[in-house]
Amino acid sequence: MNNGSSGRDLADDLRREFERYAPGERLPASRALVERHGVGPGTLSRAMARLVAEGLVVTRPGAGSYRAGEPARGPARDTSWQEVALDAGPEAGGIARGVDDSGFIATLAPAPAGVVSLHGGYPHASLRPDRELAAAAGRAARRPGAWGSPPLEGVAELRDWFAREIDGASLDGSQVLVAAGGQSALATALRALAPPGSPVLVESPTYPGLLAIARALGMRPVPVPVDGDGLRVELLVEAFAATRARVLVCQPLFHNPTGAVLSGERRAGVLRAAREAGAFVVEDDYARRLSHTDAPPPPPPLIADDRHGTVVHVHSLTKAASPGLRVGALAARGPVLRRLRAVQVVDSLFVPGVLQETVLELVGSPAWGRHLRALAEGLTRRRTAVAAALLERAPLVEPVFRPGGYQVWVRLRDGTDEDAVAGAALRAGVKVAAGRPFFPGEPPAPYLRLAYANTSGPREAAEGVARLAGVLP
Ligand SMILES: Cc1ncc(COP(=O)(O)O)c(C=O)c1O
Repeated sequence: MNNGSSGRDLADDLRREFERYAPGERLPASRALVERHGVGPGTLSRAMARLVAEGLVVTRPGAGSYRAGEPARGPARDTSWQEVALDAGPEAGGIARGVDDSGFIATLAPAPAGVVSLHGGYPHASLRPDRELAAAAGRAARRPGAWGSPPLEGVAELRDWFAREIDGASLDGSQVLVAAGGQSALATALRALAPPGSPVLVESPTYPGLLAIARALGMRPVPVPVDGDGLRVELLVEAFAATRARVLVCQPLFHNPTGAVLSGERRAGVLRAAREAGAFVVEDDYARRLSHTDAPPPPPPLIADDRHGTVVHVHSLTKAASPGLRVGALAARGPVLRRLRAVQVVDSLFVPGVLQETVLELVGSPAWGRHLRALAEGLTRRRTAVAAALLERAPLVEPVFRPGGYQVWVRLRDGTDEDAVAGAALRAGVKVAAGRPFFPGEPPAPYLRLAYANTSGPREAAEGVARLAGVLP
């Protein structure tokens, strides 16, 4: 209720409400708005006129009001020919050419104003070293050669730093390629290792961005289930035998979305299975710097256990530093390095030198260690708040908490419609991710992923859970 609202107050309330509608979606009827906000029709029409003037609302006489769509630029032309051109032609060779980014994009879309985000793949701004990054970028931009072309494989000093960061693997800088973040490194690895049309073994569930890459490259992601100890090795052996796949992609540390850590015994099993199949293992080590303060020391990366060149290691700084610092690395042993380099150079030449220099400035300053400790603490406090709130408010769901990563994977009761829950949650003011896009095949049960790192702090994280609990069946 908004008794006695002026047109201006009401416009503010309505703006917040309408921002949760998709462009083009029909807005509630005037009568419903008058009743809900306790205002007269005159006040409502003044507020609506403001929102029309702002470009948020369009009214169609006799048909109601709508959230405005994207503004049209210039006269509409007939572009239907593109639908034929994008998919026709013998060169498509029976491989679907559409790029399905829907599951992936859903995890990246920002939450509307006033909505708590338990959603998305990057820590909240309050967990980022933005000030230190700005200072590092300023110094980097003035370094000699920062704006020229760097070596194609990356700046030597940064390659050496990554080689040391990939702890226990005894790599040197010549076995490292600087990449433009994890997503780009994964795409390079898949394109280098498997031809279009081939199967690629992936964890089930897994990161939707990986599924999007495999499908965009015309590959067939084949699910291998994950449990509390990571990949199920006996099923991996079966999947290699059944598909003859030459690539497995896995996240041994704080797997997204389940948070599982591959157990010691299974690490050996995964490497053995891949070696026997003559296959590569792409190790997506996205969460190496997201260990919580109560976590035991994390196991070394899988590439540290490998002396045969089986593992292609992917490392990224975006989660620990900032999504805007799109710098990561690919590390490998053997001739595969040349292939990786060729694919990366053909696709994107090199990672901007100024960004590479920014990383060197950042990680070389004492602020980096302080930031990593603050990040670990911030993640731990948010996780603890979400765990307590779920236990208190939603005792029937089955969350599995891990002392690392940025999310919790929550199993809902069988038969729950996870999309309906995620939709109702958004209307109640909290954004969560439904489980479906994380599965390469049929999901065994309904799930939600709650990315608590995205909240401004433990209080907001607990508030998000309270809003979610209110709509759980
Ligand atoms: C498991 C996993 N791998 C890779 C990425 C890609 O991250 P970036 O390209 O920002 O390094 C993400 C991002 O959410 C992720 O969750």
